[in-house]
Amino acid sequence: MEHNHGGRTSAEVWDEMYRSRPKAWSGRPNPQLVAEAADLPAGTALDLGCGEGADAVWLAERGWSVTAVDVSAVALHRAAAHAAEAGGDELADRIKFVRGDLATWAPHRGFDLVSAQYLHSTVLPWQEALGSAADAVVPGGTLLIVGHHPDALPPGGNHVTEDMFYRPDDLVRELGIEGPDWEVQVLERRDRTVTGPEGGEVTIGDSVLKARRRA
Ligand SMILES: C[S@@+](CC[C@H](N)C(=O)[O-])C[C@H]1O[C@@H](n2cnc3c(N)ncnc32)[C@H](O)[C@@H]1O
Repeated sequence: MEHNHGGRTSAEVWDEMYRSRPKAWSGRPNPQLVAEAADLPAGTALDLGCGEGADAVWLAERGWSVTAVDVSAVALHRAAAHAAEAGGDELADRIKFVRGDLATWAPHRGFDLVSAQYLHSTVLPWQEALGSAADAVVPGGTLLIVGHHPDALPPGGNHVTEDMFYRPDDLVRELGIEGPDWEVQVLERRDRTVTGPEGGEVTIGDSVLKARRRA
């Protein structure tokens, strides 16, 4: 069953968002993923809310076998095209794109890396969207969650409410990674500069959690 909030499903809301513009995101991998995953040994990766696929392509280029999940068929279509353009069949074969609503979709097996980058939605609370993220990490594997910090949001966001976003500590609490099974390696707000809608530079904050499940 699709998650339904206010009469509209996640799929409807996100397909409409993607259809409204030919390209929603930059096409480049997210900076915190690059910073935190570049030195990890390649294995199996799960990208939750993969959007147009730039992170999945970047991981696959580094030898990862990627399962990339998104609720939007429009986004997944673009992501598959990006993968084919970037590296042809060989690279595309290393990425399995899955259409799934994280309200109900959960992985069937564990992954060496579970990444969720800016998985924010007006429809599905982040606590639910990330509900299966920690469980999907194998012993010895890495969980990497990155989202907008509510005190330093990107400018020009539409229809956003502050409770769509989280601080680093919120993640530890909600995802149940306190305790001896987890080694929290990064838990912080990281600021970075982006170009704002008027062309000037704007500082925005990322909430970053990187944790390793102890083997
Ligand atoms: C802000 S975008 C980020 C996309 C990508 N991770 C990136 O950083 O470019 C959030 C993504 O989460 C997806 N999403 C939102 N709700 C979802 C849900 N319930 N199940 C699966 N994906 C969802 C959206 O379709 C969208 O692609």
